[in-house]
Amino acid sequence: MRSHYCGQVNETLSGQNVTLAGWVNRRRDLGGVIFIDMRDREGIVQVVFDPQQAAAIEHADSLRQEFCIQIQGNVKERPASQVNDSMKTGKVEVIATELTILSRSEPLPIDFNSEVSEEQRLRYRYIDLRRPLMNERLQFRARVASSVRRFLDDNQFLDIETPMLTRATPEGARDYLVPSRTHKGKFFALPQSPQLFKQLLMMSGFDRYYQIVKCFRDEDLRADRQPEFTQIDIETSFMSAEQVREVTEQLVRKLFNDMLEVELGDFPSMPYSEAMRRFGSDKPDLRNPLELVDVADILKDVEFKVFAGPASDPKGRVAVIKVPGAATKLSRKNIDEYGKFVEIYGAKGLAWLKVNDVAAGREGLQSPILKFLPDDAVEALLTRVDAQNDDILFFGADNGVVVSEALGALRLKLGEDLGLVEDGWRPLWVVDFPMFEATDEGLFALHHPFTAPVGVSAEELEANPEGTLSNAYDMVLNGVEVGGGSVRIHEQHMQAAVFRILGISDEEAREKFGFLLDALKYGTPPHAGLAFGLDRLVMLMVGATSIRDVIAFPKTTTAACPLTDAPGFANPDALAELGVQLKKD
Ligand code: AMO
Ligand code: AMP
Repeated sequence: MRSHYCGQVNETLSGQNVTLAGWVNRRRDLGGVIFIDMRDREGIVQVVFDPQQAAAIEHADSLRQEFCIQIQGNVKERPASQVNDSMKTGKVEVIATELTILSRSEPLPIDFNSEVSEEQRLRYRYIDLRRPLMNERLQFRARVASSVRRFLDDNQFLDIETPMLTRATPEGARDYLVPSRTHKGKFFALPQSPQLFKQLLMMSGFDRYYQIVKCFRDEDLRADRQPEFTQIDIETSFMSAEQVREVTEQLVRKLFNDMLEVELGDFPSMPYSEAMRRFGSDKPDLRNPLELVDVADILKDVEFKVFAGPASDPKGRVAVIKVPGAATKLSRKNIDEYGKFVEIYGAKGLAWLKVNDVAAGREGLQSPILKFLPDDAVEALLTRVDAQNDDILFFGADNGVVVSEALGALRLKLGEDLGLVEDGWRPLWVVDFPMFEATDEGLFALHHPFTAPVGVSAEELEANPEGTLSNAYDMVLNGVEVGGGSVRIHEQHMQAAVFRILGISDEEAREKFGFLLDALKYGTPPHAGLAFGLDRLVMLMVGATSIRDVIAFPKTTTAACPLTDAPGFANPDALAELGVQLKKD
């Protein structure tokens, strides 16, 4: 039905006849001559209906926005005065000789010239996706996926599919469950990741596996979290953590080079403990120059209990963020707002200190807590942070988790608000994670329960689980965790020990992971891998702020689809057949 895409008509076709198919992006009637901006996935070209071409003009008059049309016409270079440099096709126009209306459009239910809610955009997603911006993003995503496949194929990775109807795969979220009709009362879980299957494929000897695959997690949604999302999932045998990092880093470097002509260079590595100490986060955005500075040692003996308490508690933390040159910029109102902001993260307050004149000692400082601090502590603080005139210090004092989270988030917010975030790309590896995280409900695996510890036997691990590091690594880019992986446990007794530490009884481990424990008995190779969040990578690369903008049909933040109205009620007969009964409310 077409000879060229609209977006590809240019001066090299001058004088030729073309057949185009696409949509009416815009229609202008200039005293009898009708101009149509005609659009398809490759772009927009101007089509002219001249009154001389009586047949064509006749229904050109009836064209409206988003009519789907086919035209034949002749490509003509525009006079210099009419060239539009902002359009790829701006040097030419097509003089229409024939017009076929393939399908009419009612007036659109959304008007993209005014503010449109995301709910509306998602309800009419098929129209939203016609917008050049969305269209470009999805085309970009397709090229990313294709480049990833090419790289992995070239590096001997095999694309192998794994099941969607399966057993729970613990990655820390709730499962989506699917009732079984043939085994009443039993449920499949949709995979949170292909983790266990890719390990089994290593046990089967495939050596290098990859899959671009949907994963399902029923968790609280955010800008970078969807209930179904896509991983570039990778597993290797006989490769060390360093080698896995090297090959996956190459993949990302190549992607940025091919797609954006960006040279990412070698990625630095940072231990988890350093990331938490300096940035209050395990996914630090290194474009932001602000850092947390620990000051507990200086404040543990002051009379001000708010500081002295956490400063002398081994689980406590007292830290400062110094914001250079911001003392005069930030009003009392601003500071109060930051105080409210850190409350979201459990902070009980946000003490601050303005350095007006560092040479003037106490007199040169301004702070609601100055009166609680003795001279030597004040002096030591100023020296520790290398205070200069016009700096403002923000303090966090509480248990370690609250201080890191609150100041970690405040650091990002201050960076945004004050325009401190540098341009460019700052990738890094975060390594040396603890194996376990202690919570009120017991120990949790920081990565997942199949991650190998570093340098300990199963017995040593059980004796000191909280003091052991895991062989896990996260790839972080501009403050976003784009990928994570680890060396896996390949010995049955180590895997059994980790289950015990996590409070999973031998019986429960057998019931849930018996197949894995069995498989580990039959010559398991050492293996390691990683999974990237494809949506997050694409989001960063196209400069979007939510992964919803790089997914064709995403869910809302309440995990629903306004387009199809999913989830929907099930037919009572279908439920009966599944042996499922709903509670009244
Ligand atoms: P992990 O749980 O870290 O590891 O997931 C890997 C990467 O997937 C992305 N991601 C998400 N993206 C969008 N929405 C979500 N809800 C979501 N959850 C995770 C992140 C993350 O870095 N099986 C292990 C990988 C391994 O060990 O090989 C796993 O799934 O970018
Ligand atoms: P208060 O004595 O509670 O009025 O607190 C004095 C100052 O310390 C106020 O500026 C509070 O915001 C701040 N503050 C209180 N608790 C904390 C805390 N846990 N961490 C940091 N600052 C705090």
